[in-house]
Amino acid sequence: MSGIGAGPPGGAASGAAGRAAGGASGGKTGGAAGGRFLRACRREETDATPVWLMRQAGRYMPEYRALRERHGFLELCRTPELAAEASLQPVRAFDLDAAIVFSDILLPLVPMGLDLEFSEGAGPAIRNPIRSEADVLALSPFEPREELGFVLEAIALVKRELAGRLPLIGFAGAPFTLASYAIEGGSSRDFARTKRLMYGAPRAWHALLAALAAAIADYLAAQADSGADAVQLFDSWAGCLSPADYREYALPYSRLVLDAMARRGILSIHFCADSGGLLEALKEAGGDVIGLDWRVDLAEGWKRIGYERGVQGNLDPVALFAPRGELERRVRAVLDAAGGRPGHIFNLGHGVLPETPVDGVRALVEAVHEHSRRPMP
Ligand code: CP3
Repeated sequence: MSGIGAGPPGGAASGAAGRAAGGASGGKTGGAAGGRFLRACRREETDATPVWLMRQAGRYMPEYRALRERHGFLELCRTPELAAEASLQPVRAFDLDAAIVFSDILLPLVPMGLDLEFSEGAGPAIRNPIRSEADVLALSPFEPREELGFVLEAIALVKRELAGRLPLIGFAGAPFTLASYAIEGGSSRDFARTKRLMYGAPRAWHALLAALAAAIADYLAAQADSGADAVQLFDSWAGCLSPADYREYALPYSRLVLDAMARRGILSIHFCADSGGLLEALKEAGGDVIGLDWRVDLAEGWKRIGYERGVQGNLDPVALFAPRGELERRVRAVLDAAGGRPGHIFNLGHGVLPETPVDGVRALVEAVHEHSRRPMP
């Protein structure tokens, strides 16, 4: 590929625990039997509902803050041994059913030519955001296997440490969410710059998303080749789109990525925040499991998606700050909404907040297992 606008729009996706510390416990391996998490991804019966948390590694953990005192965030992401350590911290501390590689969805923007910085307090920022068709054409094509090799090495290291006791999740940002970050240059309330490019320069928009979709499909396939047992596609910001705009400007590109996963036999979770208006469209885009945020009732959301897919979610992250009895009541409400149907993976409706009490996370994981325990057929 000679430049980012060179590929045919929509064409190129095919380029594409026990605890870590504590030994295996029955039915939890990431090996051939699959363990709770992988079995739930395939909608098979499990002995209890599997649970992992988006952003389970991070600042709410004292172990993570200790790592961060010595290393910058990007340094953690780019040093496989450190990223592996950050991935393993939460699975050592809690009885989680899956590990997720420590990385960030924004990293692929760097080899594309964007100047990404994570500053203390302010979050990520891009100094040279995309604002025009010329900016899109100036982006470099990139080879995930070369330029993000450190993520693949971190996956291989975590996988070795887990030794089949727990499965490992890889991830990437969806084309829409990555494009919107590249265009806004940071977080946004209304995504006005993104939508202006979408509406005003559709050719540039589609070229950008096609290039991102091809690279992301290749990146996720490389993560699976390196040992990821399943992958999650984060479309964190697509909830800002109307269903019609989602279908026109975002869905075809998420579908390229998720179809590529299905063709390769890679299990996928498709998550979008604030997605109540988009559930049917998200399902059309693909994914073995659809991630729900807490703004939708899980029972209703699953019905809309259809029971031939799994669902993941969807406790409000702020419930982790509640007194234990209230937290347990809310955990039970989510489990009740899932109704014991195979294919539910317990998670929050979005990532763990940095101020979250560690005891809340421990109580959540215990409550999910305790209240969902069932005899295997
Ligand atoms: O889930 C995990 O434990 C794996 C690691 C992970 C991180 N980011 C580490 C991180 C994952 C899966 C992500 C995904 C991610 N990154 C998303 C999608 C999920 C979502 O929250 O919607 C997004 C939008 C990003 C971009 C990003 N990275 C933002 C907006 C921020 C700043 C907000 C914040 O919490 O500081 C980050 C930084 C980031 N990514 C941190 C971590 C642990 C905090 C960095 C630090 O200060 O140590």
